[in-house]
Amino acid sequence: MVANKNETLLFFPTVVREVQIADSEKLNEQIDVGIERIRKSEPNSLPETWSCDLYTTIGSPTTLLQHKEFEPLREVIMREANEFANALELEVARFPLKFTECWLNIYGEGHAQEVHHHSNAVISGIYYSKAPEGSGDLLIHSPYMDIMLDPPTRKPNGLNVKVMPVTPKEGKMILFQSFVKHSVKPTRGTAERISIAFNLTM
Ligand SMILES: [Fe+2]
Repeated sequence: MVANKNETLLFFPTVVREVQIADSEKLNEQIDVGIERIRKSEPNSLPETWSCDLYTTIGSPTTLLQHKEFEPLREVIMREANEFANALELEVARFPLKFTECWLNIYGEGHAQEVHHHSNAVISGIYYSKAPEGSGDLLIHSPYMDIMLDPPTRKPNGLNVKVMPVTPKEGKMILFQSFVKHSVKPTRGTAERISIAFNLTM
């Protein structure tokens, strides 16, 4: 006789991978050199629809990865994105991941980012090269945000709330499926919060 198997099944969860990159101090030293050169030579490509005046190279014709200082980061992103894709059981052996875009974001005091997702990509992510005290959290929004009720909870968690925060930390990488909605809380203080964001397709 087969015993009843009682289970709580998690269908369609929002999958987020958080990784602390080993030797990130060394990686960041090299990245910092590239960042300084880029911010001096590339104009701010801030989209008109963004409400804060942060510095970004999003949508600029030259991808950040063309700069030699970002070669080690490119490898780290590829390694971690493949780990993430494997966890999702994506067929990366036949359809390898490839970059569609990679850009720099420098947040100053009060800078935030409205809710958005990344179109035309499969996996997106963010790497934090500077995350001083007061850096705005990344907020991951539930896909059920617009239809969820707010029942009382014993303990808020990713199964019963609409938004989950992720605190930036230097050397931390966050990966998620590109359709996942996210936003950035305002940064407090004048120290810069620097992130490198990327999109990959297959
Ligand atoms: Fe984003």
